[in-house]
Amino acid sequence: MEPEKKSMQVLTTIAALSQWRAYATPPIGFVATMGFLHEGHLSLIRRARAENNTVVASIFVNPTQFGPHEDFQDYPRDLNRDFALLEAAQVDAVFTPAVNEMYPAGASTVVEVAALSNILEGASRPGHFGGVATVVCMLFHVVQPDRAYFGEKDYQQLQVIRRVVQDLHLPVEIVGCPTIRQPDTVALSSRNVYLSLPERDAAVAVPEALFRAQRLYTAGEREVATLQAAVHQRLANEPLIRPDYVAIVHPHTLQPLVVVGLEGGVLCVAVWVGKTRLIDNIRLEGS
Ligand code: PAJ
Repeated sequence: MEPEKKSMQVLTTIAALSQWRAYATPPIGFVATMGFLHEGHLSLIRRARAENNTVVASIFVNPTQFGPHEDFQDYPRDLNRDFALLEAAQVDAVFTPAVNEMYPAGASTVVEVAALSNILEGASRPGHFGGVATVVCMLFHVVQPDRAYFGEKDYQQLQVIRRVVQDLHLPVEIVGCPTIRQPDTVALSSRNVYLSLPERDAAVAVPEALFRAQRLYTAGEREVATLQAAVHQRLANEPLIRPDYVAIVHPHTLQPLVVVGLEGGVLCVAVWVGKTRLIDNIRLEGS
């Protein structure tokens, strides 16, 4: 006889989640998301499914990580579609709290990773990583996962979370997962839906610029200025794209490099395509 297939639990309160969690079979794998799921999210879920007995996902568009003029209100949402995708991926429980469940009136504690929060994305989006670190700490606290899966697509976010876990001695293993790209190499992102067709065509310049620099690196180039110039050149060919930053940084400290050394580097790019801000990155490693 087939074992009975348990349906996915949809939990909207911390109390319900805690009750469910008390009987969940470890190890517990956790994937935090803001929903509007795509193959990038699902790759994390599948990895969590393969490595754990129980899988929990969260869908929460976290207001504290959006700036006052950013897209919190407009952020794409489709809970029913997300639930169907999670159920098909055999997720055991999904946590979808309301904003006032996570941030009741008067909430004012912020988890700040001083060394990593004011550079790159943090310089362009003040307060962003404080919001991310705070909500991820809350989610870890209520879900109590053994392992949590995050995408390298958001490379700085992954480093911020690793730092928080190390600094606060949180008992969770952070697993970084590779960036999933569309067939034309544009990284999957919930924000890609904002792009018009010409903008979506233009967006391919971003990964192409990254791969171009990576090829130079593989051919032996180590000077950051030269590698960055190659990226800027490719982006400049695309009138719909306005670069925000192009940086080559140390893989852990995220401090800017002048020459890529033995520890390698990460080439991080943020661009505006019309009103949409896209980020992408690629590792420069190996000799
Ligand atoms: P969100 O943008 O929904 O992303 C959720 C997770 O999916 C993150 O770990 C992100 O890095 C990963 N991800 C997104 N696109 C990916 C891609 N193309 N390939 C691989 N992984 C990808 O990141 C957030 O939400 C939020 O900041 C969150 C961590 C949930 C805190 O609110």
